[in-house]
Amino acid sequence: MIKIRIIDPDGNEYETQTDVGGNLMTVATDNLIPGIDAECGGACSCATCHVYINDPKQLQLLGEKSDVEHMLLDYLDTKRENSRLACQVNLTDKQDGLVVHVAPQT
Ligand code: FES
Repeated sequence: MIKIRIIDPDGNEYETQTDVGGNLMTVATDNLIPGIDAECGGACSCATCHVYINDPKQLQLLGEKSDVEHMLLDYLDTKRENSRLACQVNLTDKQDGLVVHVAPQT
């Protein structure tokens, strides 16, 4: 099990635990985190699972974005350098202690 702290756009914090092998979007939706609508169900086609990873070290551990993830993020006014789509973040032991900020909806 790994622990992930998720902070919604209103600043409410949620401590979650999950097995490795899933993805961040599923953890957020399973825990009913506000702001993660995940309309496409993780198919990387809606961008309604937009999050920020503020810690550069944690962001680096997530690996590179795919071309499709880059393209979807480019459509968002709220995109930042530390943006990720939660459905594209696969969880391994390296993500234990990850802190995630849900981006505001656009
Ligand atoms: S759930 Fe649709 S892009 Fe992530």
